[in-house]
Amino acid sequence: MIELDKVSFAYADQGPSVQDVSFRLEKGEFAAILGANGAGKTTTVRLMDGLLKPTSGRVLIGGMDTAASSVSERAAKVGFLFQNPDRQICKNTVREEILFGLRTVRGQDGEEALQARTDEILKEFSFSGEEEPFSLSRGQRQRVALASILAVEPEILILDEPTTGLDYLECCQIMDRIRRMNEEQQVTVVMVCHDMEVVLDYAHRALVMAGGRLLADGAVPEIFRDTDLMEKASILPPQMIGLGLRLGAGFENADSPEKMAETVLALRGKGAAQ
Ligand SMILES: Nc1ncnc2c1ncn2[C@@H]1O[C@H](COP(=O)(O)OP(=O)(O)OP(=O)(O)O)[C@@H](O)[C@H]1O
Ligand SMILES: [Mg+2]
Repeated sequence: MIELDKVSFAYADQGPSVQDVSFRLEKGEFAAILGANGAGKTTTVRLMDGLLKPTSGRVLIGGMDTAASSVSERAAKVGFLFQNPDRQICKNTVREEILFGLRTVRGQDGEEALQARTDEILKEFSFSGEEEPFSLSRGQRQRVALASILAVEPEILILDEPTTGLDYLECCQIMDRIRRMNEEQQVTVVMVCHDMEVVLDYAHRALVMAGGRLLADGAVPEIFRDTDLMEKASILPPQMIGLGLRLGAGFENADSPEKMAETVLALRGKGAAQ
């Protein structure tokens, strides 16, 4: 679905923010991009969406080179949830906001079909449609932005820090909905995320960046148990894994969050003794 081939990017009058990055994401993957502030995560996802064009190398979305594609071609394939929903929301009611995205991407379906799809998505997200987005809470505005993206049924969903500023319940609501799209419709998900607990719970693959380069690419449990890598990338692994590592767990055969938790629980006697 997405391929970056030796991609580099520099903002005007600056050194490279992304350097020689290559990876491929297949349909239905759920990947997280991890790294410290300034590592190049947002730049990378903007390149994946075609919002930025590489200075060198190539970015392909479903085989289409972003350098030669139009905004509407890309918008039909890729949904992009900004870190700040207020950069995305531009209409006065939730209904208008959802219709706006639909008209842009699916205008040819006709007004009746677009209204019907809007009703469907409003119902699913429990909005009446008459709410004014800017009088809603931050978490609710994030849900409005997500609803308008999901309305157009993108094949690829890119999320830049989707859980920042949300409380635990709002975070679970949004992430569970995204997981459902990933599992049921095989939507490819790429998420930049600073919350390692969320990464462990939802993502399957982790791409680790530092200084604009890709340091590592692997299964989430494998990445989190690599203490040298975590240190190099300035990442604190999820508490459960950090605790397990301190108690001497190697997590060699733990290939899921559940198995990692079992490993830690099996060590709790030892922990208490220590
Ligand atoms: N619009 C811009 N103009 C110039 N330089 C930029 C711009 N956006 C980012 N940069 C620079 O590019 C580098 C990578 O930034 P980027 O925003 O991709 O990092 P990030 O990993 O998303 O960081 P954060 O975790 O803080 O969001 C940084 O050195 C940053 O200062
Ligand atoms: Mg960023």
